[in-house]
Amino acid sequence: MTATFWPTREHWSVDIPLRTPHPRVAAMASTGFVALTDLPYEVPAHEYLDLEYMDWKSGGDTNFAPIATADGELDCRGFWREGDERPDKDAVFTSNAQQCPTIARYVREIGANFGRVRTIKLEPQDRDTAIRSLHRDDNNRFNPDNSGWVVRTWLELTDNPDSYMLLMDSGADGLPDPATEMRVPLHRGARFVVDTQRLWHVVVHLGTQPRYALITSVESGPALEGFVAANRPT
Ligand SMILES: [Fe+2]
Repeated sequence: MTATFWPTREHWSVDIPLRTPHPRVAAMASTGFVALTDLPYEVPAHEYLDLEYMDWKSGGDTNFAPIATADGELDCRGFWREGDERPDKDAVFTSNAQQCPTIARYVREIGANFGRVRTIKLEPQDRDTAIRSLHRDDNNRFNPDNSGWVVRTWLELTDNPDSYMLLMDSGADGLPDPATEMRVPLHRGARFVVDTQRLWHVVVHLGTQPRYALITSVESGPALEGFVAANRPT
């Protein structure tokens, strides 16, 4: 018997909308996830190590370097605040973007409307610790129903082949269903798209050094469909 934390109906993620009319990416319909090919080039380490990181806890002991935000300021908040409610789209590059031209170009070349862009620095955490941070994202707040569903795409910047992103769909009770568990390996260059509003997610990071990755909010639609189609393994 292991005394592991597990979310209950009281978890804040349970109230985040799951089924909505927003257009979604067809390739993600069955699992909420799609793997892409590894990045065919390397991002220089200084482009993520030398950015300005902010203390922001999400999914464990984390710090984030904002590369694009709602107004170009260096902050980690969502795209809504009272009197200025917007969906997680139409982001503006921050001062960090000038320090990471390879990353900024990569994000632009996805071709889709993007919201928050940031690198995450995650300290090691084992599975039991990680599960305490299992959650779903609130990516589509203020996103009009006829507008593309916001999902997130990852690019792994450090090489952590023994670490993985844990993904689970919800069961009928709205809680993560262990039968649906997927594990996404996090080697350098790994890329994938996750519907993080649909799937419960957290990273189990078994290394001894921090793991860095690029996380970008992107709008579902023809541009993202094209990016996925062009970069799926054959
Ligand atoms: Fe999340």
